[in-house]
Amino acid sequence: MSERLEDIAVKMVTDGKGLLAADESTGTIKKRFDTIGLVSTEESRRDYREMLFRSDEAIKKYISGVILYEETLFQKAADGTPLVNIISAADAIPGIKVDTGAKPMAGFPSETVTEGLDGLADRLAKYYDAGARFAKWRGVIAVSDKLPTFGSVKANAHALARYAALCQQAKIVPIVEPEVLMDGEPGTHDLARSEEVTRWTLQIVFQELAEARIKLEGMVLKPSMVIDGKKLRKASVEQVAESTVRVLKETVPSAVPGIAFLSGGQAPEEATAHLSAINGYDLPWHVTFSYGRALQDASLKAWGGRAENVAAGQRAFAHRAEMNYLAAKGSWTK
Ligand code: 13P
Repeated sequence: MSERLEDIAVKMVTDGKGLLAADESTGTIKKRFDTIGLVSTEESRRDYREMLFRSDEAIKKYISGVILYEETLFQKAADGTPLVNIISAADAIPGIKVDTGAKPMAGFPSETVTEGLDGLADRLAKYYDAGARFAKWRGVIAVSDKLPTFGSVKANAHALARYAALCQQAKIVPIVEPEVLMDGEPGTHDLARSEEVTRWTLQIVFQELAEARIKLEGMVLKPSMVIDGKKLRKASVEQVAESTVRVLKETVPSAVPGIAFLSGGQAPEEATAHLSAINGYDLPWHVTFSYGRALQDASLKAWGGRAENVAAGQRAFAHRAEMNYLAAKGSWTK
Protein backbone atom coordinates (compact mmCIF):
# COMPACT_ATOMS: atom_id res chain seq x y z
CA MET A 1 0.00 0.00 0.00
CA SER A 2 1.15 3.53 -0.80
CA GLU A 3 2.55 5.38 2.18
CA ARG A 4 1.66 8.84 0.83
CA LEU A 5 -0.69 10.69 3.15
CA GLU A 6 -2.99 11.69 0.30
CA ASP A 7 -3.29 8.10 -0.94
CA ILE A 8 -4.08 6.77 2.53
CA ALA A 9 -6.66 9.55 3.06
CA VAL A 10 -8.38 8.72 -0.25
CA LYS A 11 -8.42 5.02 0.54
CA MET A 12 -10.12 5.75 3.87
CA VAL A 13 -13.12 7.42 2.26
CA THR A 14 -13.76 5.99 -1.24
CA ASP A 15 -15.89 3.30 -2.89
CA GLY A 16 -18.64 3.55 -0.30
CA LYS A 17 -16.34 2.19 2.37
CA GLY A 18 -16.16 3.88 5.75
CA LEU A 19 -14.49 3.64 9.13
CA LEU A 20 -15.40 1.51 12.11
CA ALA A 21 -14.83 3.60 15.23
CA ALA A 22 -13.91 0.96 17.82
CA ASP A 23 -11.77 3.33 19.87
CA GLU A 24 -13.88 3.63 23.00
CA SER A 25 -11.70 4.49 25.97
CA THR A 26 -11.67 2.06 28.91
CA GLY A 27 -14.27 4.27 30.65
CA THR A 28 -16.58 4.45 27.62
CA ILE A 29 -16.47 0.74 26.75
CA LYS A 30 -17.40 -0.02 30.37
CA LYS A 31 -20.56 2.07 29.87
CA ARG A 32 -21.35 0.13 26.67
CA PHE A 33 -20.73 -3.24 28.37
CA ASP A 34 -22.93 -2.18 31.30
CA THR A 35 -25.88 -2.14 28.86
CA ILE A 36 -25.47 -5.90 28.31
CA GLY A 37 -24.46 -6.68 31.89
CA LEU A 38 -20.88 -7.59 30.97
CA VAL A 39 -17.90 -6.80 33.18
CA SER A 40 -15.23 -4.85 31.30
CA THR A 41 -11.88 -6.65 31.59
CA GLU A 42 -8.88 -6.76 29.28
CA GLU A 43 -10.15 -10.14 28.10
CA SER A 44 -13.80 -9.18 27.53
CA ARG A 45 -12.70 -6.08 25.63
CA ARG A 46 -10.43 -8.27 23.53
CA ASP A 47 -13.18 -10.82 22.87
CA TYR A 48 -15.63 -8.13 21.80
CA ARG A 49 -13.22 -6.43 19.44
CA GLU A 50 -11.98 -9.73 18.06
CA MET A 51 -15.60 -10.65 17.26
CA LEU A 52 -15.97 -7.40 15.28
CA PHE A 53 -12.62 -7.57 13.48
CA ARG A 54 -13.12 -11.20 12.47
CA SER A 55 -16.27 -10.15 10.56
CA ASP A 56 -14.05 -10.80 7.61
CA GLU A 57 -16.47 -10.45 4.68
CA ALA A 58 -18.08 -7.31 6.07
CA ILE A 59 -14.75 -5.62 6.73
CA LYS A 60 -13.43 -6.53 3.28
CA LYS A 61 -16.50 -5.20 1.52
CA TYR A 62 -17.57 -2.20 3.58
CA ILE A 63 -14.84 -1.02 5.94
CA SER A 64 -11.73 0.92 4.87
CA GLY A 65 -10.21 1.33 8.31
CA VAL A 66 -10.70 0.71 12.01
CA ILE A 67 -10.03 3.26 14.75
CA LEU A 68 -8.51 1.55 17.78
CA TYR A 69 -7.90 2.47 21.38
CA GLU A 70 -4.24 2.14 22.42
CA GLU A 71 -4.84 -1.08 24.35
CA THR A 72 -6.30 -2.78 21.25
CA LEU A 73 -3.45 -1.70 18.98
CA PHE A 74 -1.08 -3.87 21.02
CA GLN A 75 -3.55 -6.64 21.88
CA LYS A 76 -3.53 -10.20 20.58
CA ALA A 77 -6.50 -12.37 19.60
CA ALA A 78 -7.27 -15.49 21.65
CA ASP A 79 -5.07 -17.54 19.26
CA GLY A 80 -2.15 -15.13 19.61
CA THR A 81 -2.59 -13.24 16.31
CA PRO A 82 -2.15 -9.48 16.81
CA LEU A 83 -5.54 -7.81 16.30
CA VAL A 84 -3.96 -5.32 13.87
CA ASN A 85 -2.95 -8.23 11.63
CA ILE A 86 -6.57 -9.40 11.48
CA ILE A 87 -7.60 -5.91 10.38
CA SER A 88 -4.83 -5.60 7.76
CA ALA A 89 -5.56 -9.10 6.42
CA ALA A 90 -9.11 -7.89 5.63
CA ASP A 91 -7.54 -5.01 3.66
CA ALA A 92 -8.56 -2.39 6.21
CA ILE A 93 -6.19 0.22 7.62
CA PRO A 94 -5.52 0.27 11.39
CA GLY A 95 -5.88 3.69 13.00
CA ILE A 96 -5.47 4.98 16.54
CA LYS A 97 -7.24 7.42 18.84
CA VAL A 98 -4.49 9.61 20.27
CA ASP A 99 -6.24 12.23 22.38
CA THR A 100 -6.46 11.55 26.09
CA GLY A 101 -9.97 12.87 26.51
CA ALA A 102 -12.07 16.01 26.82
CA LYS A 103 -11.33 17.61 30.22
CA PRO A 104 -13.15 20.47 32.02
CA MET A 105 -11.71 23.72 30.64
CA ALA A 106 -10.41 26.03 33.37
CA GLY A 107 -12.36 29.28 33.43
CA PHE A 108 -15.06 27.97 31.07
CA PRO A 109 -17.89 26.33 33.07
CA SER A 110 -19.64 23.45 31.22
CA GLU A 111 -17.05 23.40 28.44
CA THR A 112 -14.14 21.07 27.79
CA VAL A 113 -10.82 21.13 26.02
CA THR A 114 -9.30 17.94 24.68
CA GLU A 115 -5.88 16.94 26.01
CA GLY A 116 -3.07 14.74 24.73
CA LEU A 117 -0.45 16.90 22.98
CA ASP A 118 2.36 16.33 25.49
CA GLY A 119 4.66 13.58 24.26
CA LEU A 120 2.45 13.00 21.21
CA ALA A 121 5.33 12.97 18.70
CA ASP A 122 6.93 10.03 20.56
CA ARG A 123 3.64 8.18 20.86
CA LEU A 124 2.93 8.62 17.14
CA ALA A 125 6.27 7.05 16.25
CA LYS A 126 5.39 4.04 18.43
CA TYR A 127 1.91 3.77 16.88
CA TYR A 128 3.36 3.97 13.38
CA ASP A 129 5.72 1.08 14.18
CA ALA A 130 2.71 -0.91 15.45
CA GLY A 131 0.96 -0.44 12.09
CA ALA A 132 -1.25 2.63 12.55
CA ARG A 133 -1.51 4.79 9.42
CA PHE A 134 -4.14 7.24 10.57
CA ALA A 135 -5.11 8.79 13.89
CA LYS A 136 -8.08 10.48 15.49
CA TRP A 137 -8.53 13.39 17.90
CA ARG A 138 -11.95 14.54 19.05
CA GLY A 139 -12.69 18.07 20.19
CA VAL A 140 -16.07 18.46 21.90
CA ILE A 141 -18.22 21.55 21.47
CA ALA A 142 -21.13 22.04 23.89
CA VAL A 143 -24.29 23.72 22.61
CA SER A 144 -26.89 25.84 24.43
CA ASP A 145 -28.32 29.35 23.96
CA LYS A 146 -25.06 30.75 25.35
CA LEU A 147 -22.51 28.06 24.48
CA PRO A 148 -20.07 27.50 22.96
CA THR A 149 -17.79 30.39 23.88
CA PHE A 150 -15.22 31.60 21.40
CA GLY A 151 -12.50 30.65 23.90
CA SER A 152 -13.52 27.01 23.95
CA VAL A 153 -13.98 26.65 20.18
CA LYS A 154 -10.61 28.33 19.62
CA ALA A 155 -8.77 26.18 22.20
CA ASN A 156 -10.21 22.95 20.77
CA ALA A 157 -9.52 23.99 17.17
CA HIS A 158 -5.95 24.95 18.06
CA ALA A 159 -5.32 21.58 19.72
CA LEU A 160 -6.79 19.78 16.68
CA ALA A 161 -4.42 21.70 14.42
CA ARG A 162 -1.34 21.00 16.58
CA TYR A 163 -2.30 17.31 16.66
CA ALA A 164 -2.81 17.24 12.88
CA ALA A 165 0.63 18.79 12.29
CA LEU A 166 2.33 16.18 14.49
CA CYS A 167 0.47 13.38 12.68
CA GLN A 168 1.46 14.55 9.21
CA GLN A 169 5.07 14.86 10.35
CA ALA A 170 4.87 11.24 11.56
CA LYS A 171 3.40 10.06 8.19
CA ILE A 172 0.05 9.41 9.82
CA VAL A 173 -3.20 10.79 8.36
CA PRO A 174 -5.03 12.91 10.96
CA ILE A 175 -8.78 12.55 11.32
CA VAL A 176 -9.83 15.98 12.54
CA GLU A 177 -12.96 15.54 14.64
CA PRO A 178 -14.76 18.60 15.97
CA GLU A 179 -17.96 17.23 17.47
CA VAL A 180 -20.80 19.67 18.01
CA LEU A 181 -22.79 17.70 20.57
CA MET A 182 -26.35 16.63 19.87
CA ASP A 183 -26.63 14.61 23.06
CA GLY A 184 -25.01 16.97 25.56
CA GLU A 185 -26.86 19.15 28.11
CA PRO A 186 -29.39 20.69 27.83
CA GLY A 187 -29.86 19.01 24.42
CA THR A 188 -32.81 21.21 23.49
CA HIS A 189 -31.25 23.35 20.74
CA ASP A 190 -33.00 23.50 17.38
CA LEU A 191 -31.63 22.86 13.90
CA ALA A 192 -30.87 26.53 13.24
CA ARG A 193 -28.74 26.72 16.41
CA SER A 194 -26.87 23.54 15.43
CA GLU A 195 -26.24 25.01 11.99
CA GLU A 196 -24.92 28.26 13.42
CA VAL A 197 -22.58 26.55 15.91
CA THR A 198 -21.34 23.96 13.41
CA ARG A 199 -20.58 26.67 10.83
CA TRP A 200 -18.69 28.76 13.37
CA THR A 201 -16.76 25.76 14.66
CA LEU A 202 -15.70 24.57 11.21
CA GLN A 203 -14.66 28.07 10.17
CA ILE A 204 -12.36 28.33 13.18
CA VAL A 205 -11.05 24.77 12.74
CA PHE A 206 -10.04 25.37 9.11
CA GLN A 207 -8.46 28.71 10.04
CA GLU A 208 -6.35 26.96 12.69
CA LEU A 209 -5.47 24.14 10.26
CA ALA A 210 -4.23 26.72 7.74
CA GLU A 211 -2.17 28.52 10.38
CA ALA A 212 -0.62 25.19 11.42
CA ARG A 213 0.30 24.53 7.72
CA ILE A 214 -1.74 21.35 7.46
CA LYS A 215 -1.76 19.70 4.07
CA LEU A 216 -5.51 19.41 3.45
CA GLU A 217 -5.05 16.60 0.89
CA GLY A 218 -3.60 14.41 3.64
CA MET A 219 -6.37 14.63 6.24
CA VAL A 220 -9.94 13.46 6.77
CA LEU A 221 -12.62 15.58 8.46
CA LYS A 222 -14.91 13.83 10.93
CA PRO A 223 -17.71 16.26 11.73
CA SER A 224 -21.06 15.85 13.40
CA MET A 225 -24.12 16.28 11.21
CA VAL A 226 -26.15 19.45 11.62
CA ILE A 227 -28.93 18.08 13.78
CA ASP A 228 -31.18 19.38 16.55
CA GLY A 229 -30.55 18.39 20.17
CA LYS A 230 -31.42 14.92 21.37
CA LYS A 231 -34.22 16.14 23.65
CA LEU A 232 -35.88 18.01 20.76
CA ARG A 233 -35.18 15.92 17.63
CA LYS A 234 -37.86 16.91 15.24
CA ALA A 235 -35.98 17.99 12.11
CA SER A 236 -36.68 15.70 9.15
CA VAL A 237 -34.09 13.66 7.28
CA GLU A 238 -34.28 16.15 4.39
CA GLN A 239 -33.80 19.15 6.69
CA VAL A 240 -30.78 17.59 8.42
CA ALA A 241 -29.20 16.76 5.05
CA GLU A 242 -29.89 20.20 3.60
CA SER A 243 -28.44 22.09 6.60
CA THR A 244 -25.44 19.78 6.84
CA VAL A 245 -24.58 20.13 3.15
CA ARG A 246 -25.01 23.92 3.27
CA VAL A 247 -22.61 24.29 6.21
CA LEU A 248 -20.01 21.90 4.84
CA LYS A 249 -20.00 23.59 1.43
CA GLU A 250 -19.48 26.95 3.09
CA THR A 251 -16.64 25.88 5.33
CA VAL A 252 -14.73 22.80 4.07
CA PRO A 253 -12.21 23.37 1.26
CA SER A 254 -12.56 20.98 -1.67
CA ALA A 255 -8.88 20.01 -1.27
CA VAL A 256 -9.98 17.87 1.69
CA PRO A 257 -10.45 14.41 0.13
CA GLY A 258 -13.08 13.10 2.46
CA ILE A 259 -15.60 13.66 5.16
CA ALA A 260 -16.49 10.76 7.46
CA PHE A 261 -19.31 11.58 9.87
CA LEU A 262 -19.56 10.49 13.49
CA SER A 263 -22.98 9.20 14.57
CA GLY A 264 -23.07 11.13 17.85
CA GLY A 265 -25.94 9.31 19.53
CA GLN A 266 -28.33 9.14 16.55
CA ALA A 267 -30.32 5.93 16.24
CA PRO A 268 -28.46 3.57 13.87
CA GLU A 269 -31.14 3.68 11.13
CA GLU A 270 -31.33 7.45 11.43
CA ALA A 271 -27.55 7.79 10.94
CA THR A 272 -27.83 5.68 7.77
CA ALA A 273 -30.81 7.65 6.39
CA HIS A 274 -29.04 10.97 7.00
CA LEU A 275 -25.83 9.81 5.31
CA SER A 276 -27.80 8.60 2.32
CA ALA A 277 -29.72 11.88 1.99
CA ILE A 278 -26.49 13.90 2.26
CA ASN A 279 -25.00 11.81 -0.54
CA GLY A 280 -28.00 12.72 -2.70
CA TYR A 281 -26.33 16.12 -3.20
CA ASP A 282 -23.56 16.93 -5.63
CA LEU A 283 -20.51 17.23 -3.34
CA PRO A 284 -16.84 18.06 -3.89
CA TRP A 285 -15.57 15.44 -1.39
CA HIS A 286 -16.15 11.75 -0.73
CA VAL A 287 -18.66 11.56 2.10
CA THR A 288 -18.89 8.46 4.24
CA PHE A 289 -19.27 7.16 7.80
CA SER A 290 -16.96 6.79 10.77
CA TYR A 291 -19.51 5.44 13.17
CA GLY A 292 -19.08 3.99 16.63
CA ARG A 293 -22.44 3.42 18.25
CA ALA A 294 -24.42 3.39 14.97
CA LEU A 295 -22.29 0.48 13.69
CA GLN A 296 -21.89 -1.42 16.93
CA ASP A 297 -25.02 -1.14 19.06
CA ALA A 298 -27.02 -3.97 17.43
CA SER A 299 -23.93 -6.16 17.28
CA LEU A 300 -23.06 -5.65 20.94
CA LYS A 301 -26.60 -6.57 21.90
CA ALA A 302 -26.71 -9.67 19.68
CA TRP A 303 -23.34 -10.86 21.01
CA GLY A 304 -24.22 -10.16 24.64
CA GLY A 305 -20.77 -11.26 25.82
CA ARG A 306 -21.33 -14.94 24.96
CA ALA A 307 -19.06 -17.06 22.80
CA GLU A 308 -22.04 -18.91 21.28
CA ASN A 309 -23.38 -15.59 19.93
CA VAL A 310 -20.28 -14.54 17.98
CA ALA A 311 -21.90 -15.31 14.61
CA ALA A 312 -25.07 -13.40 15.55
CA GLY A 313 -23.00 -10.39 16.63
CA GLN A 314 -21.07 -10.51 13.35
CA ARG A 315 -24.28 -10.71 11.31
CA ALA A 316 -25.70 -7.65 13.06
CA PHE A 317 -22.47 -5.74 12.47
CA ALA A 318 -22.33 -6.80 8.79
CA HIS A 319 -25.89 -5.61 8.26
CA ARG A 320 -25.29 -2.09 9.57
CA ALA A 321 -21.95 -1.89 7.74
CA GLU A 322 -23.67 -2.82 4.47
CA MET A 323 -26.49 -0.29 4.99
CA ASN A 324 -23.98 2.49 5.61
CA TYR A 325 -21.90 1.40 2.62
CA LEU A 326 -25.00 1.70 0.45
CA ALA A 327 -25.73 5.11 2.00
CA ALA A 328 -22.19 6.28 1.27
CA LYS A 329 -22.67 5.20 -2.34
CA GLY A 330 -26.03 6.99 -2.42
CA SER A 331 -27.86 3.75 -3.24
CA TRP A 332 -29.48 2.95 0.10
CA THR A 333 -33.24 2.64 0.17
CA LYS A 334 -35.48 2.26 3.17
P1 13P B 1 -20.14 7.66 17.51
O1 13P B 1 -20.39 7.33 16.07
O2 13P B 1 -20.72 6.67 18.47
O3 13P B 1 -20.47 9.11 17.82
O4 13P B 1 -18.58 7.51 17.74
C1 13P B 1 -17.72 7.99 16.81
C2 13P B 1 -16.50 8.44 17.46
O5 13P B 1 -15.42 8.05 17.08
C3 13P B 1 -16.62 9.40 18.58
O6 13P B 1 -15.41 10.04 18.79
